[in-house]
Amino acid sequence: MTTLIRNIGEIFGILPPGVLKKEGAQMNEVQSLRNAFLIVRDGLIAGFGEEGKELPEDFLSEEEQCHDGEGASPVTTVDAKGGYVLPAFCDSHTHIVYAGCRDGEFRDKIDGLSYEEIAARGGGILNSADLLHETSEDELYRQSAERAEEVMRMGTGSLEIKSGYGLTTEDELKMLRVIRRLRENFPMEIRSTFLGAHAVGRAYAGRQSEYVDLVCREMLPRVAEEGLADFVDVFCDRGFFTPEETARILETAAGYGLTPKIHANELAPSGGVQVGAAHGALSVDHLEQTTDSEIRCLAEHRHTMPTMLPGASFFSNLPFGNAKGFIRAGLGLALASDFNPGSSPSGDMRFVMALGCIRMRLTPEEAFNACTINGAYAMGTSGVTGSVTVGKRADLIITRPLPSFTFIPYCHHTPFISRIMIRGRLTEM
Ligand code: NIG
Ligand code: FE
Repeated sequence: MTTLIRNIGEIFGILPPGVLKKEGAQMNEVQSLRNAFLIVRDGLIAGFGEEGKELPEDFLSEEEQCHDGEGASPVTTVDAKGGYVLPAFCDSHTHIVYAGCRDGEFRDKIDGLSYEEIAARGGGILNSADLLHETSEDELYRQSAERAEEVMRMGTGSLEIKSGYGLTTEDELKMLRVIRRLRENFPMEIRSTFLGAHAVGRAYAGRQSEYVDLVCREMLPRVAEEGLADFVDVFCDRGFFTPEETARILETAAGYGLTPKIHANELAPSGGVQVGAAHGALSVDHLEQTTDSEIRCLAEHRHTMPTMLPGASFFSNLPFGNAKGFIRAGLGLALASDFNPGSSPSGDMRFVMALGCIRMRLTPEEAFNACTINGAYAMGTSGVTGSVTVGKRADLIITRPLPSFTFIPYCHHTPFISRIMIRGRLTEM
């Protein structure tokens, strides 16, 4: 199946094949093409060019060009009406598989309780674990699929999803099976992360090292046996898991071929960045609390993408961290939504991009690269998503006609998305 998108005001986010991430000064560059057309064949970007200079026909096969008018045309033409075409967002850190919500804690938060105080009272992650335990797998899938649909309609084409609200072997597997079902049923590129060490399960209260044993000896072997995860994550932070416990989990997970993606430095400089980087983490995430030593550490471990979650900073009243510091040090930066019921109940990457600009002082170009190609890198999909590149998946946002690229984070709540294409399939908004 072939689709020709014509009358594009400007394509943004063009990259040559082989560029897997952007770093330092490159973060401020977004390649574009005005007055363009783009061809999609079998769900992939087959070509693009400038109207008037190149002919779309040159990108079509003979069979596609020589349609005699009888029967359905092999080429569907879509009029972009002068709007922009952008790569779909790549949200590399979410927890969208959860049961119910935590609106009660929202009131506690308004009353002044911090994230750690709510957790210390037995709320927080444990609250979600209780709810998830009482919810059937089918119902959990139904609720999670609603969120997956919601984020897709807001322009997300690649999505990482974590477990971590099970905290028992059976409930962690239940979550991971739900992620697998989402992967089978949605056109988005979905990656799955095992986060058994998100908190100590209630049955192990006061016995943290025994819980870590459970993660290493029982959960990880089962997860690996059923092939349910691409990555392993640990909440390495004050009051949760220590760097030593994290190292043990990551070493065990490495034996099963799982690459780390770490929660670090949300609540305090935790040592999580160092332990993650030393174990080859693809990303270290949160980083609200980051000192120069973490920046230096990541400069020595260029494989690891610093990933920040401005939606969590916004919702939890946490610092926004030193995003510019990473870029000034010549590093890349990814932004993700952290969509979860406790610290960031939103998966809107347009808002994430806007917060990146408004609260982290990123330029619109830096925020865009952080939400597309670098997000894809942080979830291992940048070979196939995250940019407008011939051969990559046709995961595209088509906007209404807009005055400028800057308008995207500037008027972030204007519903500027007119159509979404995921794996070549178009949805009208
Ligand atoms: O990334 N900080 C740890 N985990 C999640 C929040 C989980 C929750 O509160 O439900 C986060 O913010
Ligand atoms: Fe998170």
